[in-house]
Amino acid sequence: MEFVEQLKSQVDIVQVIGENVRLRRVGAGPRYVGLCPFHNEKTPSFSVHSQHQFYKCFGCGAGGDVIKFVMEIDSLPFWEAVKYLAERNGIPLPKRSEAADEETRRRGVLYEMHDLALEHFRQNLFGPGGEEARAYLQRRGVTRETAEAFGLGLSERGGQALTRLLQRRNYAPADLEACGLVLMRNDGSGFFDRFRYRLMFPIHSEMGKVIGFGGRALAEGDEPKYLNSSETPIYRKSHVLYNLNRARKAIQEAGFGVLVEGYMDVIGVYAAGVSNVVATCGTALTAAQVRSLKRHSTSVVVNFDPDNAGEQATERSSQVLLEEGMRLKVLQLTDGLDPDEFIKSHGAGTYVQALEKSRGYFHWLADRARARFDARTPEGKVSIFQFLLPAIHRMPDKIERLSVANDLADYMGIQPGLVLDEFRKAASERREQRNRAREESSLDPNEVLLLHALMTSAEARAELAPALRTMEGVRRFRSAKVFDTLLRLVEAGEEISLGAVEGRLEESDRSLLLNVLFDDELLRDGVSMEQAAACLRQLSAGEHRLGRDHLRKSIKDAERTGDFPEALRLMNELRDLEREG
Ligand code: GTP
Ligand code: MN
Repeated sequence: MEFVEQLKSQVDIVQVIGENVRLRRVGAGPRYVGLCPFHNEKTPSFSVHSQHQFYKCFGCGAGGDVIKFVMEIDSLPFWEAVKYLAERNGIPLPKRSEAADEETRRRGVLYEMHDLALEHFRQNLFGPGGEEARAYLQRRGVTRETAEAFGLGLSERGGQALTRLLQRRNYAPADLEACGLVLMRNDGSGFFDRFRYRLMFPIHSEMGKVIGFGGRALAEGDEPKYLNSSETPIYRKSHVLYNLNRARKAIQEAGFGVLVEGYMDVIGVYAAGVSNVVATCGTALTAAQVRSLKRHSTSVVVNFDPDNAGEQATERSSQVLLEEGMRLKVLQLTDGLDPDEFIKSHGAGTYVQALEKSRGYFHWLADRARARFDARTPEGKVSIFQFLLPAIHRMPDKIERLSVANDLADYMGIQPGLVLDEFRKAASERREQRNRAREESSLDPNEVLLLHALMTSAEARAELAPALRTMEGVRRFRSAKVFDTLLRLVEAGEEISLGAVEGRLEESDRSLLLNVLFDDELLRDGVSMEQAAACLRQLSAGEHRLGRDHLRKSIKDAERTGDFPEALRLMNELRDLEREG
C-alpha cells in the first residue's frame, strides 16, 4: 500500500475533482463545495477538504479519497483508478504484480486493445485504402484537422484486419470475446471484425480513455447506418456521453451544455466553434448521463433533429433532464435540418445566433400543447395546463416550479390561483418527507470537539488519548466506535490520517466522523488544546458523578439487605471520590 499512500500525497484532490465538478472555495479555508456528482441536487452538499484530501456529500453520503472519487466517477476498479492518477501526474507505477484480480486485469487489457484499434483505424483512414472515406469526410465538410481531433478512423472491408492484429498480440480468446470489437463465428471456429468498412468514431470515457467505437456505414445500403461496440466491462452505453471528455471544460465555462443526437452533429457543432457539445450514442438519454453533464453545468440546450422522432426524443429526454433538476432550453432548427446540416447550409454564425435564441423548454412545450388544444376556450386552457403539469412536477426545486407555473399561467392566460392550489398540495407532501429525513440525533459537543482535536493535532493525541482510552463516558458517545478505532491506532503508534481511520469504519460511523471534520465552524476556528482539555475534564467530572451516583445506590442496597460492612466500605470509597473532586 505504500505506493498508494505516496500517490495520494502527491495528487491534489481539489484539482482532480475540480475537473469534474464546479467547486467553490468556502472562505479562505480548506473546504470547497459543489453540486454532488453522485446524486441529484440543487444546492451544494458536496464538500472537498484540501487538507484531509477527502470529499464527502452530506446529501447522499458518498465520500472518500481521491482514488475512490476516480473509481466512482469513471466506474473504474481500484487499480485502474490508481493507474489513471499516477499516469496523469507523472508518477511511475510499480510493477504490474499488484494488479491481482481478474477484473482489473481484464479491464487493463481492454483499454490496451482499444488503443491498438484506435491507431489501426486511424492508419486505415489516412493510408492508401482510405481515399474513399476521406472523400466522404470532405463532402461532409470534415477537415483533416477535425478528423484528427476526434480520432476518426476507418475499419477494413475484409473483416479480418483488426482480429488478426489483436491475435498477433497474443490476446487470449476470452479477452477477444470480451472486447466488443470482434465477434465469434457461429461455429465457434474463430473471430471476425465487428466493424467492416465503417467510418469509426472513438468513444471516450469522461477521463479521456477510449472505451468503445461507433461506426457509420460508408457503403450505400449498408445496415444499420450506425453500429456501436457491444457493452463491455469498460463501455456502458447508458453512462457515456459522446464528446464529454473534450467538452467538459467548455461546458463549465459557457455555463451550459448543448445536447445533440448524433456523432456527426457533435463534430459539426464542435468544428463551428461551439465546443460545449455532447451527444448520447444512439440510445435514449439516461439519468446517469444527465448527472455526468450536470457535474459541469445545470443548464442545457437540447438540439435534436427537427423531425417527429426528434421531437419525441426531445420530450423524453426532457423528462429525464427535469427530474435531475436541469434547466433546459430547446433549439429547434428551421428547414428540417439537423445541427450538422444546418451549420453546413447556414454557417456557424447563424447557428450560434439560433443557439442564443433557444426557447425555454416550457414555452416550447406550451406551443406544442397549443397545437393540440384550443387555447381560446377555458376548457382548452385547462387541458393545456394539465398537459404541462406533469413536466412541471418533475422539477425538484419548489421555487423553480412555482415560477415556471406562474410564467406559464401568464403565457396561457390561466388564473394563477388555480396553479397555486395545485402547487401547495405537492409542496406540503415534500416538506413532510424532508422533516422525516432530518430527524437524526446529533452529537454531544464534547465528542465533537475531542474528535476534531484528535484528528487534527498530534499534540492532542499525545495529551488526551491515554486518558480517553479508559473512560466509560467515551463508550457512551454516539461516535464510540470512531473513538475506539482512533484510540487504538494511536495506541499502536500508527500514523493518523483520515483515510486510515475512515477505512476501518462502517458507513454510519464514517458519516459521523466526516460530519465532524467538515463542520464549517470547526474548520474556521479549529479546536485549541485548552478547549480539548476542558472537554476531557468535563467528561471525567461526569464520570465521577456517575461513579458517585452508582456508589450511593449500592450503599442503599447494602443497608437494605443488612450488609453493613459492605455499606461502610462503599461509604469510604465515596468519601475518597468526593475529596478528589
Ligand atoms: P448522418 O446520416 O451521418 O448525418 O447521421 P446523423 O448523425 O444525422 O444520424 P441520425 O440523425 O440518423 O441519428 C442520430 C444518431 O443516432 C447517430 O449519430 C447514431 O448515434 C444513432 N443512430 C442512428 N442510426 C442508428 C442505427 O441504425 N443504429 C444505432 N445503434 N444507432 C443509430
Ligand atoms: Mn446528420
